[in-house]
Amino acid sequence: MCKRILLMSVVVGVAMSGSAAMAGDAGAGKAVFQSSCSICHSVQSGQNKIGPTLFGVVGRKTGSVAGYSYSPANEKAELTWDNATLDKYLESPRAVVPGTKMTYGGLKDPTKRADLIAYLDTLK
Ligand code: HEC
Repeated sequence: MCKRILLMSVVVGVAMSGSAAMAGDAGAGKAVFQSSCSICHSVQSGQNKIGPTLFGVVGRKTGSVAGYSYSPANEKAELTWDNATLDKYLESPRAVVPGTKMTYGGLKDPTKRADLIAYLDTLK
């Protein structure tokens, strides 16, 4: 009986640390954002720079920031910026939105992408 409880807590502990790693580290992601994205993107609501604000980006539709002049490609992409879509987009923006005017080559490191997306998810 006792052994079974111990075994279960070990299994739960491993599962939890596994999912935490997958979810990314928002603190590390903030540093990635500042070095790779902040030159073109603000995180303040309503503040557009070269790119649209990324406030509330997780869960929003492509091309939905009021007052920002998107390229037709981004405007008509009809995607929702969820974790999976952002992961593909940030690896290679032009593969997901061909014709985008975001001139960013892509973030190839999957851990940095997961961290960055975890940070973007805090902007709400
Ligand atoms: C050189 C400037 C530049 C950099 C660097 C840049 N972006 Fe962008 N981003 C843009 C522009 C411009 C657009 C608008 C694209 C369009 O309309 O085609 C955009 C669009 C986006 C969109 C789509 C927004 C929407 O409302 O549909 C997301 C998400 C995004 N960028 C995330 C990022 C992230 C995260 C980074 C850092 C890894 C980053 N960008 C780096 C310029 C940049």
